[in-house]
Amino acid sequence: MLRRVVLAVIATIAAGPAFSQAYPSKPITMIVPFAAGGPTDLLARIIGERMGKELGQQFIIENVTGAAGTIAMAKLARAAPDGYTIGIGHVGTNVANAVIYTKLGFDLVNDLEPIARLPANPMLVVSSNNVPAKTLKELVEYLKANPDKVSGGTAGIGSGSHLGALAFNKATGATYQLVPYRGTGPAMQDLIGNQIQVMVDQSSNSLPQVQAGKIRAYAQTSAKRSPAMADIPTAAEAGYPMEIMIWNGLWAPKGTPKDIIDKLNAAAVAALSDPAVRKRMEELGQDLPTVEEMKPAAFAAFQKAELTRWKPILEAAGVKFE
Ligand code: MLT
Repeated sequence: MLRRVVLAVIATIAAGPAFSQAYPSKPITMIVPFAAGGPTDLLARIIGERMGKELGQQFIIENVTGAAGTIAMAKLARAAPDGYTIGIGHVGTNVANAVIYTKLGFDLVNDLEPIARLPANPMLVVSSNNVPAKTLKELVEYLKANPDKVSGGTAGIGSGSHLGALAFNKATGATYQLVPYRGTGPAMQDLIGNQIQVMVDQSSNSLPQVQAGKIRAYAQTSAKRSPAMADIPTAAEAGYPMEIMIWNGLWAPKGTPKDIIDKLNAAAVAALSDPAVRKRMEELGQDLPTVEEMKPAAFAAFQKAELTRWKPILEAAGVKFE
């Protein structure tokens, strides 16, 4: 704790007007809590590349995997609060895990500083092409008839794909064996190869594979059909009401000076205002936040509201990691 106080004091002294006017004067590291090739990594690289252009410094992606993002967030919380280490996370890594993991050794919400809210991904219920089901109803019946024979990918307890599996079970009563990966990028390779058979996965990861005919989609988990996935029914239309969106965001270590947070926020807003970035996000089925929703204070309030919403859901599901 003393180290953090000292770092915060140094950062505050250093972050006088001259310091923050010069910021950033070197590359910025963005910690990504899941393996390369997955939805969080993809978003990090798109946003990081464009933020780097805005700030005139390279964004270096550092994949720090394990324990559904808690290892990455611990590393972020310990980093110097100087604006040169930030992290990307989502509702799993920065809300659900605050409820699920009770012995993290740091405060997942209060030891991090919200920078900006990022796009939200609807999820897709998908299977390998080997599964003998053509509709969500047939998939549910198949899972119920083969309770121990079907495996599904997650990125660990508390990951977005784990929250998706919980929502799927709540909506359908069907379950599958959860196989943890370091991200749904690696899990997707096993789904395509039928080493695992199902997944509830973020659209940005699954939709390109569905469009390439490598896996099958049964439903999307948004309230209404995303234009990029107009031919895929919502879970409600397919008979099982189930809404879950994996929203993303950027955080910095607590104590990062406000004017640096504001510079990073402005760069994230510029990135999501770029027509090429918006087009790419929309093609992947993502919902983009408004500039107002992206502001640090609005994002902090949103995160706290999500914590209040998810806490009883996870406690009712008995999801705890001691
Ligand atoms: C990923 O990037 O691998 C995903 O966000 C993992 C997950 O949360 O399911």
